[in-house]
Amino acid sequence: MSGTDRFSYRGRDLWCEDSRIEDLAEEHGTPLYVYSAACIRDRWREVRLAFGPDAQICYAVKANSNLAILQLLASLGAGFDLVSGGELLRVQRAGVDASRAIFAGAGKQRWEIELAAKLGVRAFQVESPHEIELLSAVAKAMAKRLPVALRVNPGVAVDTHAYIATAKRDSKFGVELERAGEAVARIVRDPGLQLVGYHVHLGSQLREVAPYVRAFERVAEFMDGAEQRRAGVRHYDLGGGFGIQYGHGAAFPLVELASTLTALAASRGLQLMLEPGRYLVGDAGVLVAEVLGHKRAGDTDFVLVDAAMNDLMRPSLYSAEHPVVPCRDEGRAEAKVDVVGPVCESGDFLARGRALPRLEIGERIAVLATGAYGASMASCYNSRRRPAEVLVDGAGHRRIRRRETFEELWAGEEPTEDTA
Ligand code: LLP
Repeated sequence: MSGTDRFSYRGRDLWCEDSRIEDLAEEHGTPLYVYSAACIRDRWREVRLAFGPDAQICYAVKANSNLAILQLLASLGAGFDLVSGGELLRVQRAGVDASRAIFAGAGKQRWEIELAAKLGVRAFQVESPHEIELLSAVAKAMAKRLPVALRVNPGVAVDTHAYIATAKRDSKFGVELERAGEAVARIVRDPGLQLVGYHVHLGSQLREVAPYVRAFERVAEFMDGAEQRRAGVRHYDLGGGFGIQYGHGAAFPLVELASTLTALAASRGLQLMLEPGRYLVGDAGVLVAEVLGHKRAGDTDFVLVDAAMNDLMRPSLYSAEHPVVPCRDEGRAEAKVDVVGPVCESGDFLARGRALPRLEIGERIAVLATGAYGASMASCYNSRRRPAEVLVDGAGHRRIRRRETFEELWAGEEPTEDTA
């Protein structure tokens, strides 16, 4: 069903650890994200065990940036992979020291670089030549020497949705290997910059080890090209991208990836760094929604629920298929339905052509494996309030984000006159 046994049926009811999902939905309303702390710990341990104590594991904050989730991961010893000044402020707010964070991002602005330099991030992952100039200027103005890892694009094709493949030839990410020599020369001749590593990120929701190996080999070949490409270089960051099951296909071969890449990095005297997002939190969350009604149009049966594309964009944006299950399974006969939300777009669906038991109005469903890129990509489109979020831990649970008020939706807007 889901990639974790932290969500499972006891009798007819779906539970998250020792909390019944129906009870959580009664207490907090729907749409509601429910996360399992134990699942996040399971995944953290799995990754740590696979890669060993020397690897630097930086959680990709964008996958789920709730402060409580960041604190949980911080307590386990995670580092953090950031892509914006906002994420940097977020991890600060979660009480994490910036020295545990690396700062990536395809278009860093000067204020973001200044903030990250002031707070002392562990490394800047440079994506484009103009960023080197910005970093250089900031280093000079602040009289600092900034640690820089160059993100290269190794030109490796991967099997995933086109929107989340990042290392094919024409990609906005990283510096092409053919141009990376110039970038390195520019970095190493700058007294304010220090080349400390290389970074690649091939894409997201990958299922194979081979592209990671190919990428490492291309970067190693590049490093062999000149002494200045190696001097002082301490780490190789293999990126994130480890896929989860989403109810079908094989699990990501994490142990195989870890043993292969650890050996490759060690053969070059490099420390491994990695930036998993989805793998750590994806299976740890479900989105709970309530059935509002049914209708038939043409040959399609629709189940209309109170969660929509603004709460979970992945089905609409990437044609992602998340398993959908009833929160209470009465064992009724199944029929194929489209599960859709109230948003005014034909692209607003959570699942299509899915076998589900007939659900009555007021019954609830859970959309599984939505812990990553669910809440963090939610919007207020159609002036809908984003879901509340709850973190279950053993027998207890805690709300970690309240549903916003309607007033908060327009709090920053400036109407011509005050009509309130
Ligand atoms: N490192 C870098 C540089 C990244 O760009 C990303 C994700 C990660 C690490 C973490 O990747 P993960 O381990 O989570 O696959 N919204 C899309 C995924 C976008 C990923 C963007 N970058 C989705 O819902 O599938």
